[in-house]
Amino acid sequence: MGRYAINGMGRIGRTLFRVLHQRGQLKNLIAVNDLMPKENLIYLLKYDSIHGTFNNEIRPTNNGFSVDNHEIRYTQQPDISKLQWQPLAIDIVIEATGLFTHSSEMQQHVAMGAKKVLLTTYSKDLPSTIWGVNDQQVSTFVSPGDCTINCVAPLLHIVEQAIGIESVHINVIQGYTTRQQLIDAPYKGLRRGRAAAHSIIPFEVNIRPILETIFPALSEKVETMSTRVPIPCGALVDISLILKNKTKADSLNKLIQQKAETEMKNTVAITFDPIVSSDVLSNPHSALVDGALTKVTNGTHAKLMAWFDNEWGYSNRLADWLIRMSR
Ligand SMILES: NC(=O)c1ccc[n+]([C@@H]2O[C@H](COP(=O)([O-])OP(=O)(O)OC[C@H]3O[C@@H](n4cnc5c(N)ncnc54)[C@H](OP(=O)(O)O)[C@@H]3O)[C@@H](O)[C@H]2O)c1
Repeated sequence: MGRYAINGMGRIGRTLFRVLHQRGQLKNLIAVNDLMPKENLIYLLKYDSIHGTFNNEIRPTNNGFSVDNHEIRYTQQPDISKLQWQPLAIDIVIEATGLFTHSSEMQQHVAMGAKKVLLTTYSKDLPSTIWGVNDQQVSTFVSPGDCTINCVAPLLHIVEQAIGIESVHINVIQGYTTRQQLIDAPYKGLRRGRAAAHSIIPFEVNIRPILETIFPALSEKVETMSTRVPIPCGALVDISLILKNKTKADSLNKLIQQKAETEMKNTVAITFDPIVSSDVLSNPHSALVDGALTKVTNGTHAKLMAWFDNEWGYSNRLADWLIRMSR
């Protein structure tokens, strides 16, 4: 169970390619599919404005391209019902287009010969399984949520278990993505259509139902929003909590540190350095808590701030899922 294919070589597909290479898992990547010409994909794999130049040679071959003498097949097939996974004996398809998120669409990959499908976002109809939180069951289709929930859910899990949460407000301050506009354009969420590199853009994100499913005790006690800022990558989540029991900022930091050194080692980390968003780029954790910003007012009103690289951190979780799904 170790032959992967990626459908959609955008930001996440290409970051996952690099993460797999860094972690020694690239030999398992057998095929990738996107719409762009092969030369353009090779160029974008080599030169990346966020993650720098990929130093190993990528050579075009008849059927795709090769890296370190490992050949990866490339196809340009927009129709998922025509992707030929069976002849390539693909075990897991990473569905990274952002377009095919319903289980009936994931089933198309299975119909074409794949054994399992790993989504790179929420599914329209399947529950989300978040690494380090509710990841015990692995089924044919895994929907690991998005980068935000992978940052927030482990932290809520730690605090809920140790202290108890009465209610929570979450604001995800994040760089822009390809689902925003470069210059003003019509868009169904009006603010989302404004020039992404030009303004601070608040908009709604509806991760509330997902959080309420993972933490039933928080039902009707969660509010969320996103603030998009003019940077191309990196994020800071601002979590404001009303706690059930009294604590202090120091105790909260110690609790997170203890979890970061034990069961949440690869998922959560804490720093006391005065970092800024560019310092979190290429950090593999889902959440890097900024300990100096942890505050508690009156014992029960707490603020936790955590950084994440929305591309690199999340792609590391995808690579973790691939190992687990391969067992
Ligand atoms: N970016 C992040 O920080 C982040 C983090 C976590 C999760 N995610 C999620 O991951 C998914 C992908 O996001 P992304 O940022 O990587 O988006 P992206 O950069 O737009 O990548 C999607 C890629 O899929 C290609 N594509 C479109 N239609 C296709 C088709 N029918 N068959 C094959 N390829 C197709 C796109 O080509 P065109 O450009 O030509 O359309 C593009 O190269 C989204 O669901 C997103 O929510 C993103």
